[in-house]
Formats: sequence, C-alpha cells, structure tokens
Amino acid sequence: MDVFMAMKGRQSIRKFRKEAVPKDQILRMVEAATWAPTAGNSQNFRFIVVQDKETLARMRGIVDEILARLTGKDAPPDKPSSHNLFAYAPAAVCVVGTPFESATDKALREKDPERYKARRFQVNPGLQGISAGIAQFLVAAYALGYGTCWMTGPLLAKSELESTLLVKYPEELVAIIALGKPDSAPAKPPRKPPEELTTFR
Ligand SMILES: Cc1cc2nc3c(=O)[nH]c(=O)nc-3n(C[C@H](O)[C@H](O)[C@H](O)COP(=O)(O)O)c2cc1C
Repeated sequence: MDVFMAMKGRQSIRKFRKEAVPKDQILRMVEAATWAPTAGNSQNFRFIVVQDKETLARMRGIVDEILARLTGKDAPPDKPSSHNLFAYAPAAVCVVGTPFESATDKALREKDPERYKARRFQVNPGLQGISAGIAQFLVAAYALGYGTCWMTGPLLAKSELESTLLVKYPEELVAIIALGKPDSAPAKPPRKPPEELTTFR
C-alpha cells in the first residue's frame, strides 16, 4: 500500500468485530513502531497486549470508577465511551515508555536546571519518540486491515492501570491502543489545509 494512502486512510476506529488479532500481525505492527525515529534510537517503548477478557473488564472497571468519582455519574453498562472503549476491542495494546535521558539532558539537568525543565516538560524527546512509534504502529495496523484508536483518556486511572499491568517506575504507561477488525468506520474528521499550517521563510 502506498504510504500516503495508508496515512490518509487510517482513522480512529471505536467499534470492533469480535475476532482475535493474531500474534504475528501484532508483532508486525510493533516492528513498524521500532522503525520510527526515536531520540538516540532509544526505542524506549514496549507493548503489553491485553486480550484476556477478565483483565480487560478489570481495566474498564478501574477507569469507570475513577471517572464516576470525577463526574459524579456512573458509566452506563456495556456502552463504550471515549475513556473505556479499549475494553470492548479484541486487544488493548498498552504502550509502556521508559524515560530517555540523552547526554544533553544530563548536562542540562546538572548545569542548567531552567533549560532542563523546559526540555523535560515541553520538548520531551523521550515522549516524542514514543509518539512516533505509536503513529507508525497505527499506520501499519491499517495497512494490515486492522482498526485502531490511540487513547490517553483511560490514563485518568494511570497509576491504578500501572498496578494492574505490573508496570513499575521508571517505566510509565503512556497510552492504550484499542485494536481489532473495524466494525464500522465513522466519517473522517476533516483536516486543516497544509498551506494554513506551513510558513516558508
Ligand atoms: C494522544 C492522543 C490521545 C487520544 N485519546 C483518545 C481517547 O482517549 N479516546 C478517543 O476516543 N480518542 C482518542 N484519540 C483519537 C483522536 O480523537 C483522533 O485521532 C482525532 O479526533 C482525529 O481523528 P482520526 O484519528 O479518525 O483521524 C487520541 C489521539 C491522540 C493522538
């Protein structure tokens, strides 16, 4: 598949068919993620693929409970939401990242705390690389006939989900990718024209 067609064709899928996603297909998506650029070629991510229905239900319960505490409203039973839809997919690919510290980061941390702070919390090369990996994972999934939804909504229960998934410091859960064969594809959200986003100097 042409790379531009794949990038344009991918869209967030929020309803999935029940069929399981074979391991070899998931490994191809992960391989695509490793080919993304990452700071220092750190490839500072790993993927916990949750397909076990009980674990998915437990994760959904955790997210629903924290959200209900926040909003004062219980989640309706068996209705996927933008926070818990991963639990209705055949697979929830939990993206775990390791902080990346380059030699520059180390020097800034030791010698220039102000610049270090800006770099850590605004530039964040470690997180940018992980995002590049996720983006390639999603495009590869699309090229293989699968639908995905990149999700950070469930991470309102980040620490509780990390405990369930046995993710420990210094690793962190950074996103969950809902993955499966698409059941329905909604209208594609429009995009801004490239001219509007680009300045030539
Ligand atoms: C970092 C990030 C977090 C997102 N979190 C969620 C989420 O929690 N729930 C959800 O339904 N969609 C989530 N999305 C999907 C976006 O809503 C979606 O990509 C955007 O509306 C553009 O639509 P498209 O993916 O169909 O092109 C997220 C996307 C990104 C990149």
